Amino acid sequence: MLGIETSCDETAAAVVRDGIEVKSSAVYSQIARHRPYGGVVPEIASRSHVELLPSIIEDALEQAGVRWPDIDRIAVTYGPGLSSSLLIGLSAAKALAMRLGVPLTGVNHLEAHLFSVFLGGNAPRPGEVCPMVVLLVSGGHTCLVRLEASLESTLLGQTLDDAAGEALDKGANLLGLGYPGGPAIEKAAEGGDPHAIDFPRGLRQSRNESTGGLDRARCFSYSGLKTALLYYLRNNPDAVTEDTLRDIAASYQEAVIESLMRPVENALEGEKVKALACVGGVARNRRLRARLDELAVRAGVRLLLAEPEFCTDNAAMIAAAAGMGAGVEVPPEGDLDVCPNLGLAGAV
Ligand code: KG4
Ligand code: ZN
Repeated sequence: MLGIETSCDETAAAVVRDGIEVKSSAVYSQIARHRPYGGVVPEIASRSHVELLPSIIEDALEQAGVRWPDIDRIAVTYGPGLSSSLLIGLSAAKALAMRLGVPLTGVNHLEAHLFSVFLGGNAPRPGEVCPMVVLLVSGGHTCLVRLEASLESTLLGQTLDDAAGEALDKGANLLGLGYPGGPAIEKAAEGGDPHAIDFPRGLRQSRNESTGGLDRARCFSYSGLKTALLYYLRNNPDAVTEDTLRDIAASYQEAVIESLMRPVENALEGEKVKALACVGGVARNRRLRARLDELAVRAGVRLLLAEPEFCTDNAAMIAAAAGMGAGVEVPPEGDLDVCPNLGLAGAV
């Protein structure tokens, strides 16, 4: 199976056997191209995918030690993401599938993140750890999902405003730490006091915006956090020195992470599951990984963390998802279009 991923600013291709054995995973991160603008520029992203995808696919084949006739299926992300970026991967996948005469599977990028915990040498099989609660924390999404051994998923909760990665990216921007914010804040926070400044955490009870039918106790919110940082910086113009930046970054990171804990704990209390998993770019964060470890011990469930290389966007998870039976099969005469706003099954 050849997997292709171009939903945002990573151009990626991978070769995966039997849904789990990663033969290669080639990822070109376009971060340096977007950094001068402080965020992803869609036009630059799609032009970069056009330029880079052919060689990334060739790299994936070469690293896997396979040739074109060895590929017997193609999997590609068809949403959610930037439409002009998704189109590049989907067009390439359609052309390759037609040329090679192999079936094509369209994969939901969010669903693929869920499967990233099954990748890597020591990863368990779904039957061993499901049902489980999965915390998906990326730049665009923050949600809680229940995943069954049958690989069916149910949305349990989601953010009512910003995603965790977005909160980190925006905070880093205010602190002048650059893009992407998650790794920049993690680095700046090293050795800092996470309790130095009391930034607001989680969903305030007084708010009553719609949760779309989801249990409020399992939903997340970052509203107020960025503003609190903005006001802190405005009110304490001399507060940011090399030393205090460490404490500010550590406190802000702690507030972002702490806001994830209560809803996860609530979901674990209500769902009878074997494991807690965490996936998505923010799952690379070492402080978050440590906090989830404590939480899983308290809840008496196994903790599964995606390997760092499979947390951020990659194509191995796309091929794995398709290989395990997720995704939409495109019939030979059928067609598939990009779905920039695609949600998880059951999402509102
Ligand atoms: O999953 P991902 O690569 O892309 C999306 O599907 O959104 O996640 C990207 C997000 C960004 O917001 C980035 O700041 C965050 O993941 N991120 C991190 C770390 N590495 C990446 N956040 C916290 N700590 C990290 N080490
Ligand atoms: Zn992603």
